[in-house]
Amino acid sequence: MAAEINFNPWDPSFRAFPYPFYKQLIAGPPRLIDLFGPTALIARFADVTAVLKDQQRFSSTQLRSPDMVAEGPFAGATTMLFADPPVHTRLRRLVSRDFTPRRIREMEPRIREIAAKLLDDVERKGELEVMADVANALPVMVIAEMLGIPSELYSQFKHWSDAVISGGAVLPGMPLPEDVKQATNELRSYLAEQIVLRRSAPGADLISALVAAHDDGESLAADELLAFAVLLLLAGNETTTNLIGNGMLALGRNPAQMDLLRRSPELMPRAIEEILRFDGPVQSTTRRALVDADVGGTMIAAGTGCFVILAAANHDPAQFDDPDRFDITREPKDHVAFGDGIHFCIGAPLARLEGAIAIGAMLDRFPRLRLKNPDAPLAYKGSYFLRGLAGLPMSID
Ligand code: HEM
Repeated sequence: MAAEINFNPWDPSFRAFPYPFYKQLIAGPPRLIDLFGPTALIARFADVTAVLKDQQRFSSTQLRSPDMVAEGPFAGATTMLFADPPVHTRLRRLVSRDFTPRRIREMEPRIREIAAKLLDDVERKGELEVMADVANALPVMVIAEMLGIPSELYSQFKHWSDAVISGGAVLPGMPLPEDVKQATNELRSYLAEQIVLRRSAPGADLISALVAAHDDGESLAADELLAFAVLLLLAGNETTTNLIGNGMLALGRNPAQMDLLRRSPELMPRAIEEILRFDGPVQSTTRRALVDADVGGTMIAAGTGCFVILAAANHDPAQFDDPDRFDITREPKDHVAFGDGIHFCIGAPLARLEGAIAIGAMLDRFPRLRLKNPDAPLAYKGSYFLRGLAGLPMSID
């Protein structure tokens, strides 16, 4: 008889360190469990990439109840993340020209400036709380500026974004807490106002570019544009925050790797890929089987919800040698921290750049950087899907 599977993303001890639980999943074909309905756990690298590349049989449309969708951050409007072709194709084409690697490179001097300013404040204070001082602030400041919103408003944005993301941890079928609903409404109203302003007075910012985006006579409808602005803020902010936080933790726990990276900054691109592989900000995404489908030897019935566990696939020994070892000199190999197939993260170049600048700036500025309490237990934020630390104190003296 197959061993019982221990998979409970709502359990804080599971969330604090899910990797040991993934081992049993990677060891065999996809498992079927009952988790608020029939659910398939897809964990092996080959199975994860097969499902992500198969939008014909596996849909990205959401499994939530109509009430949750109506009250959620997109208010029922379609976003590319939760759409299948042809809707996904159209939405992604309309915005992708604003996320070219060239456009992202143009942001580099400004991202460096923001990082330097945050570290000036840390130096004055004499201590570093990685999450509060750097990781929480930098990505939201960058995305706010891209959208043409003054970066001084970033703490308001961060507050809205945190509250909306915490709604994602609510158990299926349970109502959204009032403060989540309020933050969602405030964020949407603020962005809706900004869109109206840009329609009459366009600028050089991303909202203006999206207002103007046309393709074969098509443009984004008002609700699609608002939903995309909300998606950018949510998808582009918490994830990159956690890349910086999870990365500093991995380096802090492996001081020899931190020294090596400081001495050989040309290793930074590899280090970023290794952080994404080793402790990725997005643990899992979801899909829904549209038809009966065989994945790696398991028959998944039409209608089954799927956890497509990216972070498990990134620890699959069939794809990575000694996968639990953190090694920034690893030969680059495909990982799935940014997904795969048609939904591959549109913000990957921006996230990589921000991660490299933030981590590089901390290493350069503080030559004696180390974990403050290497043996203290770590607190993680509430979401299983987005894995990130609540705090990470480091010593700099
Ligand atoms: C380290 C940081 C990041 C990680 C780990 C990450 C991860 C991911 C993953 C796994 C997906 C695919 C989800 C799926 O297939 O269901 C995705 C999609 C997406 N990401 Fe990211 N992301 C990051 C940063 C960003 C940034 C900075 C932005 C924007 C500024 C962004 C915007 C998006 C968007 C719009 C999609 C939907 C793409 C589509 O559906 O075609 N992400 N991301």
